Amino acid sequence: MINQSSKIIVTGGLGYIGSHTVVELQSKGYQVVIVDNLSNSSIEVLNGLKNITGKNIVFENVDLKKSDLVTDLFERHSDLSGVIHFAASKAVGESVEKPLDYYENNIYSLVNVLKALQKLNKSINFIFSSSCTVYGQAETLPISEEESIKKAESPYGNTKQICEEIITDTVSSSKNLKAISLRYFNPIGAHESSEIGELPLGIPQNLVPFITQTGAGIRSELIVFGDDYQTKDGTCVRDYIHVVDLAKAHIAALTSLINNTDSKNYEYYNIGTGRGTSILQAITSFEKVSKIKLKYKIGSRRIGDITSAYADTSKANKKLNWTTKLTLDQAMESAWKWQKKISK
Ligand code: NAD
Ligand code: WQD
Repeated sequence: MINQSSKIIVTGGLGYIGSHTVVELQSKGYQVVIVDNLSNSSIEVLNGLKNITGKNIVFENVDLKKSDLVTDLFERHSDLSGVIHFAASKAVGESVEKPLDYYENNIYSLVNVLKALQKLNKSINFIFSSSCTVYGQAETLPISEEESIKKAESPYGNTKQICEEIITDTVSSSKNLKAISLRYFNPIGAHESSEIGELPLGIPQNLVPFITQTGAGIRSELIVFGDDYQTKDGTCVRDYIHVVDLAKAHIAALTSLINNTDSKNYEYYNIGTGRGTSILQAITSFEKVSKIKLKYKIGSRRIGDITSAYADTSKANKKLNWTTKLTLDQAMESAWKWQKKISK
């Protein structure tokens, strides 16, 4: 049975997806402890969270790369029942420039957390933030979990593959750990309150923040990276999921671990909408909700881009009893509302 006052440690909980998940956890009555070293987030997010939930949240400023600090952290919170591990570095291009930083942060942090959990010697539910990047350009669309994992195209992608393997090995040798990896497709949008949202550093690499910054006049125009792909309109296709729907997938995963609905101790799920959206369709959605004509032009292809990726979500729909509820337009509208707030 779910004891909703259970304590859940959310690593990377001040980040984009982590903060939205904290809201959903609190709304279900979980007691949340956020652990973050502020390497890619702001302490202001705590205020945003408090404004939404009306509750104070325990915050631990800890760098998960430091094993002694991590051991100490989990000893202080040994009454926990679960961990949602978001903390990682996530910029694909930067990972190519600084591979060792990515291996160090993403892998050491996971290993330190798992070691500390093993030492606690009590039942723990563990959820890991994985990515559709593990599939590369899939052979079959929509992409199911049966799709083979190909050699990663970036050090970042490789860290996700390695981390999944570390979890597989750890769970199979551990008596106290059950785990789920969620392979996110493309999260976009913000909380409806506009208290929290995505805070990209510098020039956004991802499509939707680039669109909203162009709409706000921060960028002069969007370059659409290629229109000569084998897709419905020649532009790349992705599965854009509202971050609030994604956050709710973590509650569903946690519930399934707590209720022991699966005989396996480790499972992985695709988390997307199941719908493919082209870049031009994403622009049309932005123009519809913002009533702004977006300045864009077609440029050349971006190196390393795959043509199409969208999820077969039937495993998560069935086994986690979870589906998306929000539309692309709703996600785009929330992203635009958030952009207007932060660019004031
Ligand atoms: P984010 O950068 O907004 O959040 C990550 C948080 O982790 C940040 O607040 C950062 O300060 C913190 N952090 C990083 N290293 C840390 C460390 N050593 N110790 C403590 N805190 C640390 O990223 P996000 O978009 O919210 O992504 C969350 C997770 O989801 C990441 O693991 C990411 O790889 C994964 N993911 C993201 C996407 C996406 O498009 N955003 C897609 C697939 C998977
Ligand atoms: C979407 C589409 C671009 C910017 C990335 C990571 C992946 C995962 C999800 C973490 C592509 C096009 C973009 C621009 C454009 N993250 N685009 N002009 O490429 O699916 O994946 O985020 O795990 O690992 O690589 O998302 O938002 O970068 O791009 O035309 O200025 O928009 O070419 O087709 P992507 P994205």
